[in-house]
Amino acid sequence: MTKILLADPDPRSRQDLRDLLAQRGFELDAAADLAAALQPLADGDVDLVLCDLALPGGGGIELLQQVRALHPETAVVLLSAFGSVQDAVQAMRHGAADFLGKPFAPDQVLVAVDRALEKANLQRENRALRTALDDRLRLDNVIGTDPRMQAIFKTVRAVADTRSTVLITGESGTGKTLLARALHSLSSRRNGPFVEVNCGALPESLLESELFGHQKGAFTGALRDKVGKFEAASGGTIFLDEIGTSSPAFQVKLLRVLQDRVIERVGDTRTIAVDVRIVLASNKDLERAVAAGEFREDLYYRIHVIAIEMPPLRERRSDIGNLAEHFLRRFAAEHGRPALSFTDAALQALVAAPWPGNARQLDNLVERAVVLSHGQRIDLADLPAGLQSTAAAAAAAEAGQPAGPVLPLRTALEGQEKRILAQALAACGGNRERAAKLLAINRSTLFHKLRKHGLRGTR
Ligand SMILES: Nc1ncnc2c1ncn2[C@@H]1O[C@H](COP(=O)(O)OP(=O)(O)O)[C@@H](O)[C@H]1O
Ligand SMILES: [Mg+2]
Repeated sequence: MTKILLADPDPRSRQDLRDLLAQRGFELDAAADLAAALQPLADGDVDLVLCDLALPGGGGIELLQQVRALHPETAVVLLSAFGSVQDAVQAMRHGAADFLGKPFAPDQVLVAVDRALEKANLQRENRALRTALDDRLRLDNVIGTDPRMQAIFKTVRAVADTRSTVLITGESGTGKTLLARALHSLSSRRNGPFVEVNCGALPESLLESELFGHQKGAFTGALRDKVGKFEAASGGTIFLDEIGTSSPAFQVKLLRVLQDRVIERVGDTRTIAVDVRIVLASNKDLERAVAAGEFREDLYYRIHVIAIEMPPLRERRSDIGNLAEHFLRRFAAEHGRPALSFTDAALQALVAAPWPGNARQLDNLVERAVVLSHGQRIDLADLPAGLQSTAAAAAAAEAGQPAGPVLPLRTALEGQEKRILAQALAACGGNRERAAKLLAINRSTLFHKLRKHGLRGTR
């Protein structure tokens, strides 16, 4: 039911309005002064305030200002016994939805109430739409129509506004950092800091003081107090990258932060409560690291609350074209060549390539092509040689015939076999076990054939 708060010192006026509005099915709360009016507002379920300008305890304008500041979705209609033009102007300037001079006809009140409620509703809808649009834009720079990416976006939207710990795994270059940032900017912590720490890059001794801070004199070189990243990230998000390579001692400390949400600076016994959202990333298979005794099992379960696995680019080829265009738009603009585009052949080659370095490799390659190309179009010739031959092989395979002259059957078959093997390896990022599966031959047959053709897998 729509609830209206009437703040008016005149009992007669309160009674009249109560009768009138009750007839129309509104629920009415009445207050005779400012303090009494603030109570139902604090309870938060008032849709509209009707308020006399001469309200004891601060006046109607004061109430209007408080409502605007604390409950911007609640509309205010001001009433005044004098109803001077000046009063009306002042009321509107402070954001009143309407102004009525007393005495007023019942119809006048009802029209003003309806209009104000309608306006407040529109504003509310507008705000909701804008938030939805903002959210879309924040994920807009993360490209992915592949179903696995769409599922990831869904998870991200669902957990963004919670404080749940999120673990993002995936090969290098698959967009873990990008996603962590998107998660932060979708959360209500977006105006707080996003602090990034590469846990694999720092030696253990430094890592601890980087993250937790230290007290002056805690160790040689600790010349002054230092605030750690956890404290610096207060109110925001801390992103712990490459967690899989962190040391055992560090893992113990991290476990404690996750359990108790407190830290201690190095050399200081006081505990400090931290208000941070923790997002972690690893390009290592943590489950395997646990099995190998390199990663604490208890920590693994602690951080494995919301787990997101970024698929490698070769497993979502339908996104490659969009990603390439996305990077092209960015670099073309950066290099002052906004009209640049790919030829079909170039795009096909990009889509067919193995991408062991994932989106990051594509990103670098597109920048290089933008810099090196001359015309308006980026063609096959502007791409690295390795990519061109993959493309040629793919094209030949698609046409169902080997490119080039007719050869003795045995030689031709050998050539064909080599090409197919190379293609399979490329599609599996060099992983021989997967390539064998793809080709439906056993591993030792594959190894034998690879050796025969002088080919190598990477893993
Ligand atoms: N889905 C994506 N959409 C747009 N750009 C992406 C996407 N994934 C990765 N990138 C870009 O590729 C590069 C590498 O991504 P990054 O998040 O640093 O990967 P990771 O942290 O997994 O190594 C960055 O420039 C990033 O902006
Ligand atoms: Mg990263």
